[in-house]
Amino acid sequence: MSHVDLAAKIPNNVDLNADKRLQRALEEWQPKFVDWWRSMGPEGFQAHDVYLRTAVNVGREGWAHFGYVKMPDYRWGIFLEEPEKERKIGFGDHFGKPAWQQVPGEYRNMLRRIIVTQADTEPASVEQQRMLGQTCPSLYDLRNLFQVNVEEGRHLWAMVYLLQTYFGRDGREEAEDLLRRRSGNADNPRILGTFNEPIKDWLSFFMFTTFTDRDGKFQLIALSESGFDPLSRTCRFMLTEEAHHMFVGETGVGRVLQRTADLMNKVGTDPAKVRAEHAVDLPTIQKYLNHWYTSSLDLFGSERSSNAADFFASGLKGRYNEEKYADHVVLEGEYDLAVRGSDGRMHTEKVPLRNAMNEVLRDGYVGDCEFVCQRWNRILEKAGRPERLELPSRRFRRAQGIYADACYDPKGNPISNEEFEAHKAQWLPSKEDLEYVRSLMHPVTEVGKIASWIAAPAKGIDEHPFAWEYVKPPHA
Ligand SMILES: [Fe+2]
Ligand SMILES: [Fe+2]
Repeated sequence: MSHVDLAAKIPNNVDLNADKRLQRALEEWQPKFVDWWRSMGPEGFQAHDVYLRTAVNVGREGWAHFGYVKMPDYRWGIFLEEPEKERKIGFGDHFGKPAWQQVPGEYRNMLRRIIVTQADTEPASVEQQRMLGQTCPSLYDLRNLFQVNVEEGRHLWAMVYLLQTYFGRDGREEAEDLLRRRSGNADNPRILGTFNEPIKDWLSFFMFTTFTDRDGKFQLIALSESGFDPLSRTCRFMLTEEAHHMFVGETGVGRVLQRTADLMNKVGTDPAKVRAEHAVDLPTIQKYLNHWYTSSLDLFGSERSSNAADFFASGLKGRYNEEKYADHVVLEGEYDLAVRGSDGRMHTEKVPLRNAMNEVLRDGYVGDCEFVCQRWNRILEKAGRPERLELPSRRFRRAQGIYADACYDPKGNPISNEEFEAHKAQWLPSKEDLEYVRSLMHPVTEVGKIASWIAAPAKGIDEHPFAWEYVKPPHA
């Protein structure tokens, strides 16, 4: 077992004490991170006491500690999963060779780019969500928001550790830039599109943590296969935290659905009548789903991609569940890709499998999202409702990849721009829908109380009831 040093300035299990140069570099970065947190983290709650879990170790049992903490004092630490003895590279051109403990020189730039792209999403989401605390539907939800936020902060620490440890001067510069870019900033935006979209209401937050954090899960799984062992071990531990973010999202949307279904049983299906009860009508929930799901699909990159082929060939980024495949080298094999022909119809094109690795990962993601959708539909079913939510086709409303230059309906049928425009307000949140949902967002901070548009959760946190003071204001 590696030694866990919790008393250190930066809690860690990487023996930071033994590398003074690295320790100094990270301790120099730490106050810059805290400054960033104070200015770009949750607005208005920096002095509150929040009931948070903190990572204190890795491994199955007892890795987290629960307690009240003021967020700027949160103990952001560096934790890597335990090394696997004599781990081998699991795929690509170097299949079967020992995993790298240092950066392979020929892949240095590629690897840095992979790490920076992942790293950039972490602070981005904190920035996107920074105003949400002011309209929380309950103290329970407020605490969950902050838990997600501090853990995204820890994910940034995890990636910055890799940059500072293995990439020398460029790594230090990248670590600075990660605190300089800003979500949604026209001059210096975050790297990926979805992470520049504002999250102004809690339904968006729950959709984001369901669909966008789930993209994170798949990226981390693919990177936990990496032949660069420190990256693999870092990502494996991040996945344990990611599971909670997806829980917050899925149960959040589920509770909105529960409330809506209960109201539909009372007042009928007319969206106006549901809205009269200060709740979100089902068509609006579907439109939000359509928006955030498709936005997250874009994060996997283009369907045909030479970058994806290079990442796989080099052994840096693998597939979801790489071990379940028989062939780990993948020099043969093709992927059947649906492409729109010049006749306007869909055809199948054979793509060399290595070039289709983004699509292979997206397949896993789509399947996982389908399960989520089924679980949401069970809530409707249990409430006796015949309506169902549905994932749109992966071709619908894409901004990246081969489906981006033409229009498709939610079933994936090719349509004209005019048809798309004519139906847009039925498929995606209109300005009016967004304004309506935002009009519902009022803070509910009384212990045990919940907003009108969402059901209370079945359980509280860490064995505490829902009616509990998860967030306490600073003492006057
Ligand atoms: Fe994250
Ligand atoms: Fe996350």
